[in-house]
Amino acid sequence: MKKIFLLPVFCIGMTVVADPSDEAIIARIQKVGTVCVQGTDCAGPQQTVAPVATGSFDVASVYDQSCATCHNLGVADAPKFADASDWASRITKGMDALYNSGINGMLPAMPARGMCFNCSDDEIKALVDYMVDAVP
Ligand code: HEC
Repeated sequence: MKKIFLLPVFCIGMTVVADPSDEAIIARIQKVGTVCVQGTDCAGPQQTVAPVATGSFDVASVYDQSCATCHNLGVADAPKFADASDWASRITKGMDALYNSGINGMLPAMPARGMCFNCSDDEIKALVDYMVDAVP
């Protein structure tokens, strides 16, 4: 008997909770990972994330941050920046081989992507160009 009595109470409760005016609450309790990239038309109060800036890659400063540690001083026999004798034998291998070493690394001591883990393949190539162009 008790169950039959509670059923209408339960149904009324559901109607209140499912009221469409609660859409704002539903939007607010979205999953934390729900993001909206800036510049796109997203409804709701999701967090806004700026799109990754393209074309702002500054080869010299990325070189300083990622490659200079080893290549300025010649750590572990890394070819030194702008050192003609260090680079001569490497340049004869051709740019494709050097790009490949930049992207995939070279055993034993040149790490893949020269530790610039968020550099794209094209950005690594630009860094290799920068290093080779600096050779007198
Ligand atoms: C942890 C040290 C280290 C860092 C950081 C590093 N390199 Fe190197 N790199 C080396 C060493 C050591 C070699 C020489 C490898 C060999 O000859 O075995 C080398 C060699 C190279 C070569 C010549 C490869 C070849 O085929 O002869 C290129 C090109 C190069 N690095 C590019 C880069 C770029 C671009 C970065 C930054 C994004 C970078 N490296 C960061 C250590 C480093």
